[in-house]
Amino acid sequence: MEWMTLIQGRRSVRAFQPTPLTREQIEAVLEAARWAPSPHGRQPWRFVVVTTPAAKVRLATAMGATWRQQLAHDGQDEATITTRFQRSQERIVSAPALILPCLYLADLDTYPDPERQAAETTMAVQSLGCAVQNMLLAAHAQGFASGWMCAPLFCQATVRTALKLAATLHPQALIPLGYPAHEPPRRPRRPLEELVVAWE
Ligand SMILES: Cc1cc2nc3c(=O)[nH]c(=O)nc-3n(C[C@H](O)[C@H](O)[C@H](O)COP(=O)(O)O)c2cc1C
Repeated sequence: MEWMTLIQGRRSVRAFQPTPLTREQIEAVLEAARWAPSPHGRQPWRFVVVTTPAAKVRLATAMGATWRQQLAHDGQDEATITTRFQRSQERIVSAPALILPCLYLADLDTYPDPERQAAETTMAVQSLGCAVQNMLLAAHAQGFASGWMCAPLFCQATVRTALKLAATLHPQALIPLGYPAHEPPRRPRRPLEELVVAWE
């Protein structure tokens, strides 16, 4: 696929067909992540793959319980919480495959001052975004679809416990993969004139 067609054709998909993906298809997506740029070339990301129904349910149930508490704390009414909760559970459990990108900070440089340490961590997050985008494009190039769920970022400890992950892994997102149930709408983009704010 021509590269701009590939970039412009990718969409966030939120409903998938039940058709499973093969291990090779998922590995092709992960392989693309491996080639992302990273600070000092340290590759501060690790990936957890979830394909079994039991693990999907365990993850969805654990995250859902935390999310329900957070929504209630925000003052949302019970009916809204239940609707949002059920939609999210369905999205996680029905995705043929899930990739959980985690930050892994152990190989990064360390600094005595918090400002530079925070910048180092920010670089790792920026780099994880590059790795995820590589995955989204690799999935699209193979003819299947992906999404991006931020939920794990808001309940990292819950995700770690549900998937028995090491404390050194910091869950950042959940990337559902599969064949799309239907063609999603194309989201509008701001024009370049608005995005480029200076050009000297
Ligand atoms: C950091 C990040 C977090 C996101 N979190 C969510 C999310 O929690 N749920 C969701 O449905 N989409 C999420 N998205 C997807 C965006 O809504 C989507 O990329 C945007 O609306 C543009 O649509 P497109 O990806 O189809 O072009 C997220 C995207 C990014 C980059």
